[in-house]
Amino acid sequence: MCGIVGYIGDRKAYPILMKGLYRLEYRGYDSAGIALVNDNGNLSVYKAKGKVSALEATVQDKDISGTVGIAHTRWATHGEPNVVNAHPHYSKSRNLALVHNGIIENFKILRSQLEKNDFHCISETDTEVLVQFIEYMQDIHKCSLFKAVQLALKNVTGAYAIAVIDKQNPDQMVVARKGSPLVIGVGKSENGNPEFIVGSDATPIVEFTQEVIYLNDEEIAYLDRSGKIDIITLSNVKQTPQVQQISIDINELEKGGYPHFMLKEIYEQPDAILNCIRGRLDTENKDVFLSGVIDNKNVFKNARRIIICACGTSWHSALIAKYFIEELCKIPVEVEYASEFRYRNPVVFPEDVVIAVSQSGETADTLAAIQLAKSKGAFLYGICNVIGSSIPRATDSGTYLHVGPEIGVASTKAFTGQVITLMMLGLSIAKVKKTITDEKLHFLVGELINIPDKMRWTLEHNKSIPEFAQMFTYARNCIFLGRGYNYPVALEGALKLKEISYIHAEGYPAAEMKHGPIALIDEEMPVFFIAPKHGMYDKVISNIQEIKSRNGRIVSIVTEGDTVVGNISDRIFSIPDTLDCFVPLLSVLPLQLLSYYVACAKGRNVDQPRNLAKSVTVE
Ligand code: M6R
Repeated sequence: MCGIVGYIGDRKAYPILMKGLYRLEYRGYDSAGIALVNDNGNLSVYKAKGKVSALEATVQDKDISGTVGIAHTRWATHGEPNVVNAHPHYSKSRNLALVHNGIIENFKILRSQLEKNDFHCISETDTEVLVQFIEYMQDIHKCSLFKAVQLALKNVTGAYAIAVIDKQNPDQMVVARKGSPLVIGVGKSENGNPEFIVGSDATPIVEFTQEVIYLNDEEIAYLDRSGKIDIITLSNVKQTPQVQQISIDINELEKGGYPHFMLKEIYEQPDAILNCIRGRLDTENKDVFLSGVIDNKNVFKNARRIIICACGTSWHSALIAKYFIEELCKIPVEVEYASEFRYRNPVVFPEDVVIAVSQSGETADTLAAIQLAKSKGAFLYGICNVIGSSIPRATDSGTYLHVGPEIGVASTKAFTGQVITLMMLGLSIAKVKKTITDEKLHFLVGELINIPDKMRWTLEHNKSIPEFAQMFTYARNCIFLGRGYNYPVALEGALKLKEISYIHAEGYPAAEMKHGPIALIDEEMPVFFIAPKHGMYDKVISNIQEIKSRNGRIVSIVTEGDTVVGNISDRIFSIPDTLDCFVPLLSVLPLQLLSYYVACAKGRNVDQPRNLAKSVTVE
């Protein structure tokens, strides 16, 4: 949550920062701001309530010169989203400007200490306290900005990624992180001069350089216009910068002709899944190779239990994995909301494998949950999409999704990528535990490799969803029902609909209806059934009849050619046949499309729904 970007070099900073803000806008979009040391030596800060486009309009007639600057797009935590609370924040003298992603938990204590020393904040934010405190440190210790940042951060409790610039020293920028992500791009301008581009992730950077340094927690970096970089820790240990290569195709960061990232990402799924399984599923010999499991064979072989921690959509994919791994590997799997797990003193054994599932790899609760599990001696495994993010760096081993950047706030291709990765994990564990025969392994892999084509079929054969969605906009509530592997899909369908269309939706295991929720059914209640010809098919049909006899409007996701469910549903959408355990990879697609088109029909901002942010880096 919140995106920060910074530039120092010999080019004009403004266009680089602005482009960076657009790339990072998925992280928060309630206000935005930019600070530049102008060519005349002034430190200008411009801010606007609302999206980055509002900021762009605000600066039209302003001085946007300068080759060093920082910028921010905000998801408010402390203080309402308005211009005063927007970042960057000035220090008392207005010599310093700072942007921040994270939460300073002890900001009230620091604020009262500052007030006693005649440093007064004008905003309600925790962030402004930080820039004032840095200047206060400079005043009392008569030290450099680099040192002052270190001294100030020693007093801070909480999470931060920050970038600070100083009008009196325009040839430097200081950045630091703890608990929030920060990437430093190390590049060269068109003139061959050194430059640094700083970002909350690599998306503002990849256009300029593929060389990055991932700052670690409690590290502070001094970036100099001449290309010098010094890194020290909070406890004053000098670090050697580790430059790594990244490869993100710039086209993956664009909409590519689609009206929204979400629609592009839905349609990308067949190819994204192909990328995800490449090199891991052997299509010729119908086998699986997951290096994270092969390298830690004994850990998985001897695991007493698997605990999966996740949030939101990632939690839903974890729930599907529970069904699959328990069935295949005969090992207990617990699926935990990371936000609950981290605070309830859970029982974790050193023989447990704790898996974090997270698209962003930055979700604060998931990160904290695995840190807790680590302190109890468990082996940590990460399943993430964003390369170099915090969770992969905090885990003992793991697997990247490789589905490409997901920018729409509503998770789509990351969900199917997580499900298939968790299934490859399950197959790999079953292999090392010898709970699967070669025949069954070949059979399952043989079908798994057909999934991208079946996804393509599903996307091509459900062209009536946009028209259906138009009729659907009247709905105020709706229910999604499924059983077995499709119960988590019901939860995911409901989450997708509510987060982007703002229609109240709930997902339940179909058989739970009669324990209460069935009281909600009347002729105005749309009920979505995921009813493939598998698993508890007959029982789901009985559940549909229960709703039908109470006049609920029934929309079903069915296996291609099924007429039984079709006859008792008001509307059906078809998916190709596959094995019961793989149905979620197909049945979720019509639900993603439906929520997308309903949200469009209601005029919602699909990629940036209200109150949400892509990467939830606050608890
Ligand atoms: O990055 P993560 O997978 O850890 O994010 C977890 C949730 O915040 C995320 O899945 C959220 O629920 C999505 N907006 C759902 O579409």
